[in-house]
Amino acid sequence: QQMASEALRILNEYAAGYFHDTLLNTEEGQLVGLSYFKQRGFRKDIIDRFKLGFNPDRGDVFYRDALAHGYSAEVLERAGLAKNRNGIYHDVYRGRVIFPIHGMTGRILGFGARILRTTDKAPKYINTPENELYVKSRVLYGMYQSRQAIGKLDECLLVEGYTDVISLHQGGVENVVASSGTSLTEDQLRLIGQLTKNLTILYDGDPAGIKAALRGLDMALSQSFNVQLVLLPEGEDPDSFVQKSGAARFHEYIKSHKQDVISFRLQVGMTDAGDDPVKRSKLVNEIAESISRINKAEDFALQSHYIKLAARRLDVDEAGLINLINKYIRDRI
Ligand code: UTP
Ligand code: MN
Ligand code: MN
Ligand code: MN
Ligand code: MN
Repeated sequence: QQMASEALRILNEYAAGYFHDTLLNTEEGQLVGLSYFKQRGFRKDIIDRFKLGFNPDRGDVFYRDALAHGYSAEVLERAGLAKNRNGIYHDVYRGRVIFPIHGMTGRILGFGARILRTTDKAPKYINTPENELYVKSRVLYGMYQSRQAIGKLDECLLVEGYTDVISLHQGGVENVVASSGTSLTEDQLRLIGQLTKNLTILYDGDPAGIKAALRGLDMALSQSFNVQLVLLPEGEDPDSFVQKSGAARFHEYIKSHKQDVISFRLQVGMTDAGDDPVKRSKLVNEIAESISRINKAEDFALQSHYIKLAARRLDVDEAGLINLINKYIRDRI
């Protein structure tokens, strides 16, 4: 196990260096890969900081190079860098720009590789498969580059994608990590919790983003995070927003659109429920369940603040809401 993950680690390091070098120092890398990043507004210093790379769409160039440097086909396959089809190995990342994923201490655990032009035939991103080193549920993209700022600012921004982390760093916002499109896990929250208990969720302004944000909430509340949410304008993600509007307007937007968990749930839920009494009643239950997850012993004032707010917005009796909350607490014991 230890030996196996050490082999993967050394290979990943080599591969990241190879792809980064290909991007910067080959003709095709510059023409295709670097042009792509430039067109997205990524500066050279940020390309270096995240060690971004490129591999051309030419069958097995990387695979053969890696073999020549002593890496085995078996390890290359386990790392998700090569694939065997009918007895012939080829590169998994072909004609893609590459985002190495660093662990907390700077080791490269895996990669995300983006196609240059999206089609419905190929997935937009190919990510490293689960292996001894890359355990998706324990990885947050950007953790290595952002951990100092997260500690210093005592706040962590959570975004969906690789490019969100990168564009925010470029705009000077360095306390940010990405859940990489999957819903947040307990282990990922624990990682963040080692650095700060203040979490701001900044998911894409589309239905999928809202849904993903909602899923992460209860878990974060249970781990005693102080969670805030920002809903971006429809169709925007942090990358597009900050590239379009600049860091100053991004900061301003965050400041004026930060919502606490209960307000966020109420806003999303009330819009969704409208006047439908069944949906309303379901919403009351969901909000009560959310509030019940706030640790009463530690956050009594916070809990009673939410109870008042929710009762008012939902137009229900405060005592009734408290009863419901207590029921949820009892149910969990
Ligand atoms: P998005 O679709 O929002 O992509 O998925 P993005 O990050 O904005 O990327 P660009 O701007 O189009 O380049 C958010 C995250 O979900 C994961 C990736 O981690 C991505 O950054 N994802 C998305 C995948 O793993 N595979 C996919 O095919 C799509
Ligand atoms: Mn470099
Ligand atoms: Mn999205
Ligand atoms: Mn996005
Ligand atoms: Mn995007």
